[in-house]
Amino acid sequence: MRTTVGIIGGGPAGLLLARLLHRAGIGCVVLESRDRAYVERRQRAGILEQGTVDVLRECGAGGRLDREGLPHQGIELRFEGRGHRVDFPSATGGKSVMVYAQTEIVKDLIALQLEEPGGPPLLFEAEALAIEKPDSAAPVIRFRHEGREQTLSCDYVAGCDGFHGIARRAIPADRVRTFEHAYPYSWLGVLADVAPSCEELIYARHRRGFALHSMRSPHVSRLYLQVPGGTDPDDWSHERIWDELSTRFALDGDWTLERGPITATSVTPMRSFVQEPMRHGRLFLAGDAAHIVPPTGAKGLNLAVTDVITMARALIHHQETGSSELLDGYSRTCLRRVWQAERFSYFMTDTLHRRPDETPFEDRERIARLERIASSPTASAELAENYVGLPLS
Ligand code: APR
Ligand code: PHB
Repeated sequence: MRTTVGIIGGGPAGLLLARLLHRAGIGCVVLESRDRAYVERRQRAGILEQGTVDVLRECGAGGRLDREGLPHQGIELRFEGRGHRVDFPSATGGKSVMVYAQTEIVKDLIALQLEEPGGPPLLFEAEALAIEKPDSAAPVIRFRHEGREQTLSCDYVAGCDGFHGIARRAIPADRVRTFEHAYPYSWLGVLADVAPSCEELIYARHRRGFALHSMRSPHVSRLYLQVPGGTDPDDWSHERIWDELSTRFALDGDWTLERGPITATSVTPMRSFVQEPMRHGRLFLAGDAAHIVPPTGAKGLNLAVTDVITMARALIHHQETGSSELLDGYSRTCLRRVWQAERFSYFMTDTLHRRPDETPFEDRERIARLERIASSPTASAELAENYVGLPLS
């Protein structure tokens, strides 16, 4: 097989890239190691920045998003038994976010790609095994599909294969630097068939730890609890989960957390990670393949989207003008934004969680950070600007 851009990974990054390239007349093939059902079931984050919504609409994937997505104009920060709203539009010139699950975006993009006549091939159960000669003019992806080893010859390779993929590791170790931070806690995520108890997301700091109230639809709530690293979700009965959530969200005034049947639980470790540079020869990394943020602030999916917008622009510019200027600047352009998202996610995580070894001083200092956001329009605007997404440079 041969194509212009060989895309490894059919997550949001790889699927959106395929869509953007196809619309510009650039050939591509997507290789996804898992089957379609698995990819469409995987539970991930659910907050889309304005820019993410805009690009999905522009590329024809906005239909269901506009019908079923829930526009949100702000969030609540809850601490010391009180709630404080951070308003987005007033602080950002009218921007807001959309609640729409990543799994739904993946379903929409897969359906578009498979249904469109002449759409780029999307191979499921096609596992990339190696990228050969990524720094040459003719890289080759070796992959296994339908029990056979095959090759895909490309002009460019897009490594969109997530944190555990092979693309990141195809760059020689002496050419990369990695930056990492591990957090001494995880999130226990809960999906429940119950109407959300709030209209906007609640980020709560409590002396027993962080809790987040999010949602998937008017009938499905998505909730998270800070738990110690290495927690087994089976150690948490559903009753214990609801009790703990109720405690951490408790307000001085009148407020009740509605309970309902829990349909899924999972534990996610928290990590910050960046690999630099994001390009080696004709191999370009995007999304989780190049960087991880902790989920507080919901930047992971949105960063993957801005990486692939930047990559598509660079490839289209090269096709139209012959200039490789944007391709050469790809890593630098992406990393500027990546580090801003790393900073914001680290700040949100560190401010809202309780470290097991936290001192009373550190506790008070974090509450002071939240008091500052609650009382200063400038501090609140700083949070809002980052939350809705910094402009694409
Ligand atoms: N060959 C082919 N596909 C692979 C391989 C491989 N060797 N290794 C991994 N993959 C596939 C995975 O099965 C997965 O479907 O690559 C895809 C990567 O998708 P994601 O992990 O969703 O990563 P990405 O597309 O970068 O999405 C951004 O950021 O914070 C997160 O929740 C956010 O998952 C979202 C991610
Ligand atoms: C989610 O809905 O899954 C979600 C929302 C906000 C976050 C993280 C996750 O900061």
